Amino acid sequence: MLPYIILLMRLVTSITIDKNVFIKTLNLFQGRSFIMNLLYREAIIMMENIKKVLLTEEQIAARVKELGAELTAEYKGKDVVVIALLKGCAWFVSDLTRAMAMPLRVEFMVASSYGDGTTTSGNVNVKLDIGQDIEGKHVILVDDIIDSGVTFAAISAMLKERKPASLKTVALCDKVERRINGLDADYVGFVIPDEFVVGYGLDYAQDYRNLPFIGVLDPKAYA
Ligand code: IMP
Ligand code: MG
Repeated sequence: MLPYIILLMRLVTSITIDKNVFIKTLNLFQGRSFIMNLLYREAIIMMENIKKVLLTEEQIAARVKELGAELTAEYKGKDVVVIALLKGCAWFVSDLTRAMAMPLRVEFMVASSYGDGTTTSGNVNVKLDIGQDIEGKHVILVDDIIDSGVTFAAISAMLKERKPASLKTVALCDKVERRINGLDADYVGFVIPDEFVVGYGLDYAQDYRNLPFIGVLDPKAYA
């Protein structure tokens, strides 16, 4: 009973409760009823500077399943290597590959063009490369979001030099308006507006990745 009271107090009043106590309280509600999930989500939003939920857990799960089915139809029977760009893509690629009903291999790459800000630095650094030869393989390059397009352009160019049989790109989110190089992903989960989003792997300065939904970060959080 006590957790309910604490949660409701926090939701309807401006009483400040120690963050750790609050988070522990909220954790008790995970996997509970719809109403509790709703309260939980609302509470996270209040806690973590999320302006609004853009894509719910349910919307993401449904779209990822569709993408998995599309990729399965295109690639079944081919020798496929899925290359995921860490860290943000870890959540997405884990769900996406489980929605692909076919044998495949998964590799991870760490590439970053972002500092702790919200816009690209323009330079893409590969900090960790994949561990296998992709010559003659069908490569599917996956990222959480395509923004300026700089990351996909740089990594695709690098991978093409290794002579894969084919290379296509998949992005869960696409901020079309922000593209600076005209490059489009071959598969896109959601076209989203030009706002900084976090959750389901997407971060701001390494925070928020574990939110189960994708939300718009309140600009006051990085002002
Ligand atoms: P691009 O190179 O500008 O296309 O950016 C791609 C990378 O930028 C993604 O892998 C993300 O790490 C990061 N990024 C771009 N927009 C956002 C956002 O709204 N939230 C979190 N990360 C983002
Ligand atoms: Mg990234």
